Amino acid sequence: MLILGIESSCDETGVALYDTSSGLLAQQLFSQVEMHAAYGGVVPELASRDHIQRILPQLDKVFLDSGRQLSNIDAIAVTQGPGLGGALLVGTSVATALGAALGKPVLGVHHLEGHLLSPLLAVPAPSFPFIALLVSGGHTQLMSVGNVGLYTLLGETVDDAAGEAFDKTASLLGLGYPGGPALAQLATLGDPSVYKLPRPMLHSGDLDFSFSGLKTAVLTLTKKLRSSTADLTDQDRANVAAAFEAAIVDVLTTKCVAALKNTGVETLVVAGGVGANQRLRSSLNAEAAKLGFAVFYPPVDLCTDNGAMIAFAGAMRLSAEVGTNLFMQGAFSVRPRWPLSELATTRPA
Ligand code: KG4
Ligand code: ZN
Repeated sequence: MLILGIESSCDETGVALYDTSSGLLAQQLFSQVEMHAAYGGVVPELASRDHIQRILPQLDKVFLDSGRQLSNIDAIAVTQGPGLGGALLVGTSVATALGAALGKPVLGVHHLEGHLLSPLLAVPAPSFPFIALLVSGGHTQLMSVGNVGLYTLLGETVDDAAGEAFDKTASLLGLGYPGGPALAQLATLGDPSVYKLPRPMLHSGDLDFSFSGLKTAVLTLTKKLRSSTADLTDQDRANVAAAFEAAIVDVLTTKCVAALKNTGVETLVVAGGVGANQRLRSSLNAEAAKLGFAVFYPPVDLCTDNGAMIAFAGAMRLSAEVGTNLFMQGAFSVRPRWPLSELATTRPA
């Protein structure tokens, strides 16, 4: 079965071809991050317009690279939500137009399901069941993944996402957008023990997160430092970055371990941009070695938004024959807000 996957939910345009017998054949990915950097965040209208510019050339390229023809595909998988309404409309309109022209089914894929299943594209791949920590600019969730279509939300952020907290804190320290990688880089020069920052909800007894207070604590700390000296020294900034990173990593690690213990599951998978953070990886690896669980990190190009994960999620659903109610019937429609929990009911008993 040959599946064409299309992703345009936020600021990455992705198109990919996945074959259920030979794997990922080709993919194209374009990140708009440089365009949005000037505004300090994603500008939805600019995102939609840029998707329009990229998507058709990307389609041509994946067919050229794979040596396959449009007429060879069996189905189209497209991100139907959640995401930015206008951005989602670009991908879904291309997908439904192609579906109508070729007479092929179009499956509306939940973006987070793409992230949750994407680790299975990596080598070695984890096997079900696993706990997924999804940490991106828009999401922070702990999910129990039993099988395709079997997802249980264990906990999530009640305010900012982890990546958002990295980005906002980086901005407070005068670093550019997106600030996560820059803040992580600065933190390597700092001492995390000089300033003590709070670990929000560390002992809340549940698997939820809260990161907006941490950002406020950094703001208060930097104001205090600025009032005692003219400005922060480079070393002050590095120490604040290290203290922030240590606090966030502490909370993420503790909750992952709690999720594994509570469920008895022995495999952890980390997906999303913050999964690239080295301190987070070292901390989770240390716990894995101590407690005996396995931890998987997909390659970075599969951690961030991409078309391959959407093609793959579509292929998994069609192979497992789950979620055929997700076929888009003729008209295209998007679901900017779409709780993942709605998918759990689509798997037959
Ligand atoms: O999954 P992703 O590429 O995009 C979406 O949010 O959909 O995640 C991007 C987020 C940004 O907030 C970025 O600052 C953060 O991931 N990030 C990092 C690192 N690399 C990316 N945060 C901390 N450390 C990193 N090394
Ligand atoms: Zn995403």
